[in-house]
Amino acid sequence: MSVPPSGPNAGASAARGAAGTQAVAARAEQLTKVYGSGDTTVEALRQVDVAFAAGEFTAIMGPSGSGKSTLMHCLAGLDASTSGRVTIGDTDLSALNDKQTTLLRRDRIGFVFQAFNLVPTLTAKENITLPLDIAGRKPDQAWFDAVIDRLGLRDRLSHRPSELSGGQQQRVACARALVGRPDIIFGDEPTGNLDSRSSGEVMSILRAAVDEFQQTVIIVTHDPRAASYADRVVFLADGRIVNELRHPSADDVFEYMKHLDDPAQQAQQRPATTPPPAPAAPVAPPAPAAQPNPPSAVDHLNQSPRPTDPISPADPIPPAQSNWGPPADGTEAPDGRPGRHSRG
Ligand SMILES: Nc1ncnc2c1ncn2[C@@H]1O[C@H](COP(=O)(O)OP(=O)(O)OP(=O)(O)O)[C@@H](O)[C@H]1O
Ligand SMILES: [Mg+2]
Repeated sequence: MSVPPSGPNAGASAARGAAGTQAVAARAEQLTKVYGSGDTTVEALRQVDVAFAAGEFTAIMGPSGSGKSTLMHCLAGLDASTSGRVTIGDTDLSALNDKQTTLLRRDRIGFVFQAFNLVPTLTAKENITLPLDIAGRKPDQAWFDAVIDRLGLRDRLSHRPSELSGGQQQRVACARALVGRPDIIFGDEPTGNLDSRSSGEVMSILRAAVDEFQQTVIIVTHDPRAASYADRVVFLADGRIVNELRHPSADDVFEYMKHLDDPAQQAQQRPATTPPPAPAAPVAPPAPAAQPNPPSAVDHLNQSPRPTDPISPADPIPPAQSNWGPPADGTEAPDGRPGRHSRG
């Protein structure tokens, strides 16, 4: 499976194949999700087709209720679709049983949630290594140190979540997702509860995961500034993908979002990554789940590192960007985009 490479970062991507194409990290095909039945039926996803290139940072945006979380949860194997297909790499999630789905999530996927989902009785360090502990693996010390220092958590490791600020808790949640070096990190509004400074730090570590470690990052956000860290912004409206922007500035995203509910713009929108919706498609009754039972609330913690993926201690991780504003050298992209990485 491949998609054409695009964007300045594509050239640097280790995920790019010899033929000049990029591997697909995750894909939804004709994905439908229907909640409820009868009068209470909600079509949260309507035949969504979208692919996420490996080594790329994608932000999913759209009005409240447009299906962003549903799409992300189906992609990550946290929820079952009604029909259609999800693949992670070359693995078809619908072909996996519960145990295989749990292992896939554990080994290949990291999650960062808006609500942090830390275990209150454990210290920051214990929370971070919990997925590895569950998997019976030791953290790679060099990588653990790199992540901790990059996120500025060194002096908070022995604190419990209640003794940490919201931003620190979210950075712990990021560290937990990063230490296992998963192929894909999903974030559902990972900066939704953070102030602008902490948001910048979280987005900058996610950006670094893509630029320096070739991980794939897919987040849902309502924040144009956060979205401007992404290589690609995909817009959902009413359960369909309606457009996408590549390397947008925060202003580009803001402008687009302002009109996303505007019927005139909606009429002009052609789905960039999906075929046009079938006219007057009947609402199908919920089919048997295409994927195994949704996991328990703590299942996402059950991750492990890939044993064959060592990190060189020499791998440089730049200091955390301290806020949304210009970087330490005072430069800022002319479009107002945070000056955090080398993009064209
Ligand atoms: N468990 C559920 N049961 C019934 N309907 C649901 C359920 N979860 C979501 N929905 C509905 O599906 C639609 C899409 O919900 P979803 O949570 O994906 O939206 P969203 O784009 O993430 O919104 P927000 O930006 O507010 O988080 C909404 O209409 C929502 O009410
Ligand atoms: Mg949501």
